[in-house]
Amino acid sequence: MSHEKIEKNVGLMAILIILAISFGGLAEIVPLFFISQTTEPVEGLKPYPALELEGRDIYIREGCHVCHTQMIRPLRAETERYGHYTVAGEDVYEHPFLWGSKRTGPDLSRIGTRYSDDWHRVHLNNPRDVVPESNMPAYSWLNGGILDGVDTGSKMKALRIVGVPYTDDDIAGAGAAVKGKTEMDAMVAYLQGLGKEMRNR
Ligand code: HEC
Repeated sequence: MSHEKIEKNVGLMAILIILAISFGGLAEIVPLFFISQTTEPVEGLKPYPALELEGRDIYIREGCHVCHTQMIRPLRAETERYGHYTVAGEDVYEHPFLWGSKRTGPDLSRIGTRYSDDWHRVHLNNPRDVVPESNMPAYSWLNGGILDGVDTGSKMKALRIVGVPYTDDDIAGAGAAVKGKTEMDAMVAYLQGLGKEMRNR
């Protein structure tokens, strides 16, 4: 009976629809204001150490993410080749994300420890020395860039504001940890660290 009344009264129906949708929206949205994190970090996930953090910035500067993804899709061909598909919990400390979408080169999210440091150095100096058919550009100038570490602590502080759990000690020691290292050292450290928390999954 009362349902018939609603169905025949467009105004009432509209008001009730708005009520129902608002209630649903509130039930979904309000709890998000009271939890500090929507995605739990995967076990063993740690913020990048100073040198890797600098390496990551160089990776962004050089546009490596324009040819390389860091996002393994749950497709057989990718999981067979690279390992466990990417899960949200791996990326909670990533600001910005480097998932990428252009797959000119292989995915790099699990590249760490697959090759030696020397392999990476030779490859970055001139990819064709180790992969003759490679069309990846050479990045030999990374050997010439010397890090001064002046901004490393500030970068960590900024990341801490958005939730990356750097400690005061991390920040205080950051500059000294990278000072005098080359950009090549930083890049290799970054690449070797990629995917370590997912290795045994
Ligand atoms: C123009 C596209 C392009 C850019 C830019 C590029 N790469 Fe590559 N990369 C490739 C291709 C293609 C391959 C596969 C051939 C090879 O191993 O050299 C590759 C391979 C690699 C590999 C080996 C991956 C594996 O699984 O064997 C690493 C590591 C790598 N690139 C790192 C980098 C880094 C670091 C940068 C930025 C400094 C970068 N690449 C920039 C195209 C690119």
